[in-house]
Parts: sequence; C-alpha cells; structure tokens
Amino acid sequence: MSETTITAPAPAAAAAAAPAVREIGIIMNGVSGRMGYRQHLVRSILAIREQGGIELPDGSKITVKPLLVGRSEAKLAELAAKHGIEDYTTDLDAALADPRWEIYADFLVTKARATALRKAIAAGKTIYTEKPTAESLEEALELAKLAAEAGVKTGVVHDKLYLPGLQKLKRLIDSGFFGRILSVRGEFGYWVFEGDWQPAQRPSWNYRAEDGGGIIVDMFPHWNYVLENLFGKVDSVYAQAAVHIADRWDEKGEHYTATAEDAAYGVFELEGGVVAQINSSWTVRVNRDELVEFHVDGTHGSAVVGLFGAKIQPRNATPKPVWNPDLEDSHDYDADWQQVPTNDVFINGFRQQWEEFLVSYVEDTDYEFDLLAGARGVQLAEAGLRSSREGRKIELDALSLD
Ligand SMILES: NC(=O)c1ccc[n+]([C@@H]2O[C@H](COP(=O)([O-])OP(=O)(O)OC[C@H]3O[C@@H](n4cnc5c(N)ncnc54)[C@H](O)[C@@H]3O)[C@@H](O)[C@H]2O)c1
Repeated sequence: MSETTITAPAPAAAAAAAPAVREIGIIMNGVSGRMGYRQHLVRSILAIREQGGIELPDGSKITVKPLLVGRSEAKLAELAAKHGIEDYTTDLDAALADPRWEIYADFLVTKARATALRKAIAAGKTIYTEKPTAESLEEALELAKLAAEAGVKTGVVHDKLYLPGLQKLKRLIDSGFFGRILSVRGEFGYWVFEGDWQPAQRPSWNYRAEDGGGIIVDMFPHWNYVLENLFGKVDSVYAQAAVHIADRWDEKGEHYTATAEDAAYGVFELEGGVVAQINSSWTVRVNRDELVEFHVDGTHGSAVVGLFGAKIQPRNATPKPVWNPDLEDSHDYDADWQQVPTNDVFINGFRQQWEEFLVSYVEDTDYEFDLLAGARGVQLAEAGLRSSREGRKIELDALSLD
C-alpha cells in the first residue's frame, strides 16, 4: 500500500464513529467493610470496570469510576493502591458536594446509614444502598419520601433474588410447575463462633441491639423481598426471637453480653394464601446441602432450592409413605428428587443487580427495588421484633409514599 492511499480520518469523524461512553462516578461509603469491599467493590464495581463497562443495546457503554470513602485514610489508601483506584477520601461532605460523583452508595453499619442517606438525598445524588435501609420503619419511610420529593432515583440491595438457586425457583414458578403453591419452609443459618477459643466470623455489632444488630433486622428485610417477589406480599408475621448465646467475645477478644437475638423463628402469611415459615439462626450447625434452603410444596410438585442448587419432585413421582413406627423405613427419600439443570450462566448477584441499576439509571426507567421496597423490609423486621416481644401475630399495613 503506498503512502498516498492512506487517508487518516479527520478527528471529528473518528470521534463520531467511536461508541459513546458514559462514565459514572460512584461514591462508595463504607467500602472497607465486609460487604462494601468484597461484594460491592471487588465483585461488582471493579468487575464491571475490568470487563470494560456495560454495553447498552444502542452500542454505547457505561463505565464506572469509584470514589472510596471511609473513616481511615490509611485503609483507603491501601485499598486504592491495591486495586489501582485514583480517588479516595475521608471527607463525605466534600464528595457529596462534587458533581463528578453522581451515585452515592452506602455499605455502612446499619446504625450509621440513615444519617448518611439523608445527606446524600439532600445533595441530589442517586442512591444505592445495602439493606436494611434504616433501623425503624418511620425512618425508612421518611428516607423513601425524602428521595421521592427530591426526585432522586434509589436502589436497595436485593441480592438473594439473584442467587442461581432462587433464579431456578423463579423459573419453576413461572413455568407453572407447582400448581397452587401451598407453603414455603426456609432454613437459613450456620454456627457463628462465640469468639473466645476461635474468632467469630461475623462482626460483634451484629449481636448488640444498641449497635443495630440482631438476626431479625439483618435477615427479615431479605425474607420480605424474597417472599413478595416470588410468592406474594407479606400480610402478617409471627416471630419468636431468641438470644441463645449471651456470652460472646469481640474483635479484640474482649467479652461482651449479646443483647440482640441470634435466632428467629418466623411464620409469614402471604397475600394469596401461601404460608411461609423461615428459621434464621447463627446458632445452628448445618445439616443441609447449602447455608440457605427453601422447600416449596405445591399441588402439582415440590422443590428444594439453595444458593446454587435446585431439585424437584413432581406429583407423578411422589412416593406414598405410610406411617408405621414399628417398621424401620428403608425408602430412600433423597432418591425421589431430580436435579434442575443449570441452563444459564449466573454472574455474582450483587454485580448483576448493580448492572441492572446502572442501566436503569442511564436509561431513566422505573426501578422497583427502591427505598419504598427497602422500607417494606424494615417494616417486616420491626413487626417481627414486635411480634416476639408481644407474643402475637402482627398484621402489616400496605405502605405508600403519601
Ligand atoms: N446483602 C447482604 O447479604 C448483606 C450481608 C451482610 C451485611 N449486610 C449489610 O451491609 C451493611 C454492612 O455490613 P458489614 O457486615 O459489611 O459490616 P462491617 O462492620 O464489616 O462494615 C461496616 C462499615 O461501616 C463503617 N462504619 C462503622 N461504624 C461507622 C460509623 N459510625 N460511621 C461511619 N462508618 C462506620 C466501617 O468502617 C465499615 O467500613 C449492614 O447494613 C448489613 O446489614 C448485607
């Protein structure tokens, strides 16, 4: 090829041909914590950055630029250096005042969340936050209303819905496999060490009510969105909370008295008549295939799903047990179940939800997992705690922004 045949495109034409790229600045507050670091920074935002962003149907791209925010400059500097991130600060107010950062994302301890969210909403930022969105229903609803009044888009983590096992369950429900769904039995939990002879594998604030801890506040917001998105809105709850282990040792090896429940036994009545019963416990030794499992019974079939796996038993393959305490039962009940194949590629659930939220933000579409959905989760937690205190079933009123 001779030199004369090469025609370099004019700069303007070159620019027009390149796909449009929109870089979104994200304030990541509490990024050095367990969830902030592993799930939101490494598994979501950095994973999106490493794959070169998210491609939209029109060929344009969304890329992400994180601003690490926390209280310890040394920790932030270490994270930034480790992952090649340019921006970090301990000054949240300055970050919120800076228009380069469009989204405020919150992974703080639950107790610190409402104050930070209020500031971010007032600054006009788009909000993406861990659950629970607040410590009380009143505060959670107030935040949802403030965001609606300010016209800011909001998103709340609904990660369990994205678990491969629950996505398989959704597909079973949508296919009509169950017939009429009768009941759901959930088992969640594992043994969390007390912290004396082995360090505890969860933060000590989880076991102190005064610090926003407790398994009801932690897990009932998850159960609320799982139940309402798969089986029906929660109409009522009866819960029994228990502090099974009062003596625990914190991160420094110091003894403290647990003031928040480490187990909760809940019964939930759902719109449409399904009854769900979910045990949540940090004081149970695992004897199941996965750390969370849901057993769903329907008129036409049943399923047991976990984080990854799902197995089914249709009515045509249901055995006919006969109760006889005098005879040892040699039937292999496990063998009556059939594995659901993994026909999809599942990415990390936190990342999948981040991607959906970012696309919804850029395309300005409605996003259903918002602060009002988050407030329903807090409502269920509050009702669960009240139910346990008062020893009775609590009905849940429909929430609205009016
Ligand atoms: N979606 C899920 O599956 C899931 C799982 C676990 C926890 N969570 C939620 O994520 C949030 C964080 O939990 P975690 O387990 O990562 O906790 P963590 O203790 O590991 O991290 C908490 C973060 O908050 C910061 N922080 C603590 N006190 C603060 C204060 N007073 N002011 C400002 N910052 C403060 C810490 O420096 C840290 O960065 C909680 O709200 C929890 O309910 C969600």
